[in-house]
Amino acid sequence: MQDNATTKTARLTIDGTDYELPMYSPTAGPDVVDIRKLYAQAQVFTYDPGFTSTAATDSSITFIDGDKGELLHRGYPIDQLAEKSHYLEVCYLLLYGALPTAEELEDFELRVTSHTMLHEQMMYLFRGFRRDAHPMAIMVGVVGAMSAFYHDSTDITDPWQREVASVRLVAKMPTIAAMAYKYSIGQPFVYPRNNLDYASNFLQMCFSVPAEDYEVNPILSRAMDRIFTLHADHEQNASTSTVRLASSSGANPFACIAAGIACLWGPAHGGANQAALEMLREIGTVDRIPEYIARAKDKNDPFRLMGFGHRVYKNFDPRAKVMKQSADEVLDLLGIHDNPTLQVAKELEKIATHDEYFIEKKLYPNVDFYSGIILDAMGFPTSMFTPIFAVARTVGWISQWKEMIEDPAMKIGRPRQLYCGASRRDYVDVENR
Ligand code: SDX
Repeated sequence: MQDNATTKTARLTIDGTDYELPMYSPTAGPDVVDIRKLYAQAQVFTYDPGFTSTAATDSSITFIDGDKGELLHRGYPIDQLAEKSHYLEVCYLLLYGALPTAEELEDFELRVTSHTMLHEQMMYLFRGFRRDAHPMAIMVGVVGAMSAFYHDSTDITDPWQREVASVRLVAKMPTIAAMAYKYSIGQPFVYPRNNLDYASNFLQMCFSVPAEDYEVNPILSRAMDRIFTLHADHEQNASTSTVRLASSSGANPFACIAAGIACLWGPAHGGANQAALEMLREIGTVDRIPEYIARAKDKNDPFRLMGFGHRVYKNFDPRAKVMKQSADEVLDLLGIHDNPTLQVAKELEKIATHDEYFIEKKLYPNVDFYSGIILDAMGFPTSMFTPIFAVARTVGWISQWKEMIEDPAMKIGRPRQLYCGASRRDYVDVENR
């Protein structure tokens, strides 16, 4: 931890005893109260299921101002990166902390490109899955299995091996995701092509077939690259926290990233992009929106507007703004003008953001609300939406993993609990129960 200690302290009084707790001030965001010694001093735990008020770590990678709707990667605003940068440059920024020089960028892109192929024997793992397996199930399995193939980059105490594992994961995730897609549609796997940029390579691995030539549409590859950039990292979200907790035990990076993929799959998190497009399709027409708004507000109905709301953003998610612009551009450039799903999305956003319930609860579209419309227009099935999120977020997971592993103060994560179960009692033989 940088030395953020301030002269400020927090005083906690329990049963008449005062406890002084040090406070730290961040570069941006709220001060924190250091409670690490609280249990030793006062024999009490703090209680915060869901971590609504708990900083689990210090970090220098990403900062979100939920009230302003601002997202910074190493200090650079996401809208500037989405407009002026590209995904592999953002990967460099997240991994190494600064924008690369032209030489540094060329070297990094060359290192990633030269790791895009997967060990040939790994393709047999796919055959163990049913063809209708969700691609996320395949991603969890195959990425975890990388620990069985890349033994020379699993020792997390070796900085060189950590670097190789990082580059391998960023490089191979698109290949694995594309193979999962090809497997699900019964088409042959397509090898990466190292003369293509990251996004174009992913599209050709997904959509080209050996039987004919394939030209990547530059509009689609630019949009794909922007989607990767918008999903790259996002502070200590659920899947990143999963990766950090798994890594704190010293588990190898491939296993920890597989754990992150598993967590991302949930519909409350990365699975929301698939759920959001399926919801928009289920609504179908603008006139049915009020029915769904009513359901979202009904406490007795578990239905939620997918792609809406966020733990941190209490204003518009800046990524959703960029995604919305991109959806307009891509559909327009593709000549898709009257996309009913986009019409429903825009009308739903307009109605919801003017509705008392959503205003009071500060619920706005998040990154998952518009992304599916673009991915759908590109030809991806909804089942590939979350795997694409996982491809993009891998660099965020890896950057946060590196930051934690390189921190000499790193400890295994081991939360405590508020125990509400039975008090001590003796065993009763079955005949006496
Ligand atoms: C991602 O953390 C990250 O950074 C995640 C992410 C990233 O880049 O890593 O940004 C990616 O996961 C985006 C979020 C994708 N999920 C969804 O779109 C699913 C729908 N949204 C929700 O389930 C919800 O908004 C969450 C999970 C995103 C946030 O949940 P919180 O912060 O725990 O908020 P909550 O569930 O306590 O809701 C607060 C209130 C509740 O009402 P009350 O109990 O106060 O009466 O708002 C309501 C909720 O019922 N509410 C919604 C709603 N989201 C919250 N009501 C209707 N529709 C919704 N979408």
